Amino acid sequence: MTGPVTGATGEAARVTGKETIGPYTLLRVAAGTIEAGVPGQFFMLHPPGHVLPRPMSLCFAEAGELCFLIDPIGPGTRTLCDLSAGDALHVLGPLGNGFDLTVAHPLIVGGGIGVAPFPFVARALGGPPAILGFRSAHHAEAAALVPGAEVVLDPVLVTSLLPDDPMDVLACGPEPMLEAVRRRVPRAQLAWEAPMGCGYGACYGCVVEVDGRLQRLCVAGPVLRAA
Ligand SMILES: Cc1cc2nc3c(=O)[nH]c(=O)nc-3n(C[C@H](O)[C@H](O)[C@H](O)COP(=O)(O)OP(=O)(O)OC[C@H]3O[C@@H](n4cnc5c(N)ncnc54)[C@H](O)[C@@H]3O)c2cc1C
Ligand code: FES
Repeated sequence: MTGPVTGATGEAARVTGKETIGPYTLLRVAAGTIEAGVPGQFFMLHPPGHVLPRPMSLCFAEAGELCFLIDPIGPGTRTLCDLSAGDALHVLGPLGNGFDLTVAHPLIVGGGIGVAPFPFVARALGGPPAILGFRSAHHAEAAALVPGAEVVLDPVLVTSLLPDDPMDVLACGPEPMLEAVRRRVPRAQLAWEAPMGCGYGACYGCVVEVDGRLQRLCVAGPVLRAA
């Protein structure tokens, strides 16, 4: 079924498997006719039994599967992490604007579950430099998804590793980290988060202020230029 947004497909999909990576779950879903899209775009995954779907970045796609790295922080994400091979769930995407990968000197900067879109980015760019920050060594197990990444643990901040000439930063992580990157690198591409009801501009649940104007993050973003 074609979705409400150009290029997006909504489909009843099947879980094909899952892996535990530190505190996170890597959920594998049969792609069917759904395209992977551009790294940094997102998908709305509908946890069975819940009213609303939840936005998730695509972690990577391979062998007919879409893979999502999920942090079980609340009821919806916990239901998604509890799914097993063969279970059905509705998937809509790809949605929103992803990273512009046509940059000269990319540098991945991720914090916590913000690592989620970067395996896809790293594969697309052939392994660019990456710096990732995590709360603990247990959380940092997810860094293995981005081979060659430099990893720091709390209390060291990932921004302390930003080089003096911070290149073309692609960042995803908690809001204070994005704000710190924005201050250091005015041209950085930042993947923001907001609670989302629909994912394609219909519910206005994700309105945020961008450049002094209220905009729907699902349509204007989630990746925005810092400046
Ligand atoms: C574009 C986009 C991509 C995302 N990609 C991923 C991903 O790859 N992996 C992943 O684990 N999570 C991702 N998230 C976040 C994920 O969608 C939320 O954690 C999830 O919707 C929470 O649902 P819940 O029912 O488990 O918890 P809820 O009960 O809805 O939320 C638990 C707590 O988190 C807060 N919260 C919920 N959603 C958000 C949000 N989007 N931003 C800030 N605070 C929030 C709530 O206010 C509450 O305090 C993404 C979000 C966006 C917008
Ligand atoms: S999530 Fe519905 S308008 Fe953005």
